[in-house]
Amino acid sequence: MDRILIRGGRRLSGRVPISGAKNAALTLMPCAILTDEPLTLRNLPRLADVDGFGHLLNQLGASTAVEGARAGEFGRVMTVRAGRIASTEAPYDIVRKMRASILVLGPILAREGRARVSLPGGCAIGNRPIDLHLKALEAIGAELEFTAGYVEARAPSGGRLPGGRFAFPVVSVGATENALMAAATARGTTLLENAAQEPEIVDLCRCLVAMGARIDGIGTGRLEVAGVDRLHGATYAVMPDRIEAGSYACAAVVTGGDLMLAGADPADMGATIAGLRQLGATVEEGPEGLRVAMEGRPRPIELSTAPYPGFATDMQAQFMAALALADGASVLTETIFENRYMHVPELARMGADVRVSGRTAVVRGVGELTGAPVMATDLRASMSLVLAGLAARGETQVARVYHLDRGYERLEEKLGAVGADIERVSDG
Ligand code: EPU
Repeated sequence: MDRILIRGGRRLSGRVPISGAKNAALTLMPCAILTDEPLTLRNLPRLADVDGFGHLLNQLGASTAVEGARAGEFGRVMTVRAGRIASTEAPYDIVRKMRASILVLGPILAREGRARVSLPGGCAIGNRPIDLHLKALEAIGAELEFTAGYVEARAPSGGRLPGGRFAFPVVSVGATENALMAAATARGTTLLENAAQEPEIVDLCRCLVAMGARIDGIGTGRLEVAGVDRLHGATYAVMPDRIEAGSYACAAVVTGGDLMLAGADPADMGATIAGLRQLGATVEEGPEGLRVAMEGRPRPIELSTAPYPGFATDMQAQFMAALALADGASVLTETIFENRYMHVPELARMGADVRVSGRTAVVRGVGELTGAPVMATDLRASMSLVLAGLAARGETQVARVYHLDRGYERLEEKLGAVGADIERVSDG
C-alpha cells in the first residue's frame, strides 16, 4: 500500500490549480441516468471516487468515454450515455465502498419507474443513515420495500413519479440531491423545503436546468421543481472544489506561505475565507482565484460547523491542523457528523494538544509539531495529517493514501510544485 512521505518545515509559495469539485462530480454524474442522450461533464477531477462512479454507471448500462486533460491541465472530460438502462440495481459491493452510490436511486427510479439500491451501512465519520433520502422520495410518490439489505423503490404502476412536497427535518446534501433528480421528470410539481443550499446543490440544479429541467429557488432552501416529460443531453463544467481550495489555503497557513489557489471561486467559500482571516491569514480575491498568505503563528479562534452557508464540516479537520499551531486555545464544535474527530489521536502523536468532549474539541496551540508515522480513517482527516506533516519538524508518513486519492487530485504533485518536500512511496 502507498504512503505519503513528507519532510516538513518548508514554506510553500506559488500557484496551486484547483480541480473540479468531488462532491459536485458525484451528483452530476448520476444526472446522466435521467436521459438517453449524452451528458458531457468537463473539469471532472481525476479521483478514485469519480472512477468508481463511472464503473457503477457502466454496470447500469451506461457508456462512459473519458478524454484526458490537455498537457499542463488537470481534470478530464467524461461523456456518459445511458441510451438504455440495462440494470436498475446498485449492488452492495459498490455501495459499501462508495456511499455516494446512493445518488443513483432517485434518477434510476425516475427513468425506469423502479430501482433497487443496497443500503450503505455506517461509515468512519458517523452512522450516516439514508432515512431522509427515502422519506423525500416517498413524499414524491415512491413506494418503498426493504429486502435483504436493499431498498426497492417503485413509482406508482411503474410509471412516472407524481411529485409532492417534503420539508427536510434536518438539512441533508445527499437527500436533497436524490430528491431533485427524482423530481426533475415527475408528472407534477415538487416542493422541497429546508433543502440543502450547498454550492454543489446549485451546481446540480444548473446542470439539470441545462438538461431541460424547470427549477425555481436555486441557491435557496426552498426548491420548486416543475416536472418535465423528458430531459435532454448537455455539456456542463463541474464547479471548482471549494474544499480542496480551503485545504490548500490551510497549507499556506501552517507553513507561513503564500499560495495562489488558481480557479478557486471565493463566492462559494465565505465561511472558510472568514475563518482564514480570523486565523490571521491575508486573503485576496482576484480574477485568477484566491491568494492566501500567512505570517507568524495562527491566532486561536472559535468555530462551529453548520450546513452552508455555515462553516463546512469538510473543513473542520484541516482547520484543526492549523489551530494545533495557534498562539492560544481554540474551540471547535462539530455539529454535522457525530464521529468526525478521528484525526485527533493521530495529531496528538505529532505533538498536538487536543481534548475532545462530545461534539466539542479544545485545541491548545503548541509551538511546534513533530513528524511521525500516522494514518486516518477518512479523507479530510487524512488531509489534516498531511497539513500537520507540512508544518512539522522531521518526517511524517501518512498511511492509507487511498483516502486521499478519493478526494485530492494529484496531491503530491500540486504540493511539490509549490515547494513541499513530499513523495508517494509504494510498499509494492
Ligand atoms: N442524515 C440523516 N439522514 C439522511 C441523510 C443524512 O440523518 O438520510 C444526517 C447525516 O448523518 C449527517 C447530516 O444529516 O449527520 C448531514 O448529512 P448529509 O446528507 O448532508 O451528507 P452527505 O450527503 O452524506 C455530503 C458530502 C460530505 C459532506 C456532507 C456535509 C458528498 C458525496 N458527500 O455527504 O462530504 O461532509 O455532505 O456537507 O457530497 C467529504 O467530502 O469528505 C464528505 C464526507
